[in-house]
Amino acid sequence: MGITLKTPEDIEKMRIAGQLAAEQLRMIAPHIQPGITTNELNQICHDYTINEQQAIPAPLNYHGFPKSICTSVNNQICHGIPSAKKLKNGDIVNIDITVIKDGYHGDTSKMFFVGKPSILAERLCRISHECMRLGVEMVKPGIHLGDIGHSIQKHAEANHFSVVREYCGHGIGKVFHEEPQVLHYGEAGTGVILEPGMTFTIEPMINAGKRHVRLMPDKWTVVTKDRSLSAQWEHTLLVTEDGYEVLTQLPGDEI
Ligand code: MF3
Ligand code: CO
Ligand code: CO
Repeated sequence: MGITLKTPEDIEKMRIAGQLAAEQLRMIAPHIQPGITTNELNQICHDYTINEQQAIPAPLNYHGFPKSICTSVNNQICHGIPSAKKLKNGDIVNIDITVIKDGYHGDTSKMFFVGKPSILAERLCRISHECMRLGVEMVKPGIHLGDIGHSIQKHAEANHFSVVREYCGHGIGKVFHEEPQVLHYGEAGTGVILEPGMTFTIEPMINAGKRHVRLMPDKWTVVTKDRSLSAQWEHTLLVTEDGYEVLTQLPGDEI
């Protein structure tokens, strides 16, 4: 299929899908408190998607994924399956929302603190957010995808954290995961050259310990092999004529 360049009509629909995904993160924030289960968060998001947004939760049944959102807690890196386990004070949790509206996908995630985080957890969430923002702010026509990965890796490792290699950002549009793959590590000057009309995610997964991953027996939940904490932030971006537009950023919000 290759990399699809989006038309102005595609882009308008991508904007709408992106805004809906971002609105869900805003909506769910006050619910993330000690004692709530990730199943309950899933149910709130599911109902909101269907009833308030008239949209479709993309994860549900995607390659057999059983829930409508991903909730990745503490040492879980990504694709955590919502469960009956309660969140507790000091946990960190990534909520990853992908909606389909009018045939187009919007994909975004962020970290939340449950009660009061440890100093390490706070630093990991801050540095991983900086990694994502660094990547986003580089986006413009003519740069290489490898430039983005390189800067992210440099910032993570300068802070003694590591970058997960097995999962990456992705092209997105009518298809949830399409080309190109957006690595969060690598060499500057390598890989695809960006062009206006490309849409893709940047979603670095940063570990407090070593970069290695392990897949849980549920075949979805990815955890750190050394059980260290992991954090991730994600936005869906459009490459514009002179830079980028963050499709999953709400007016007035920071990246
Ligand atoms: N939202 C994830 C991403 O950023 C993908 C989740 S796929 C699922 O690409 F099946 F686990 F939901
Ligand atoms: Co994604
Ligand atoms: Co996502």
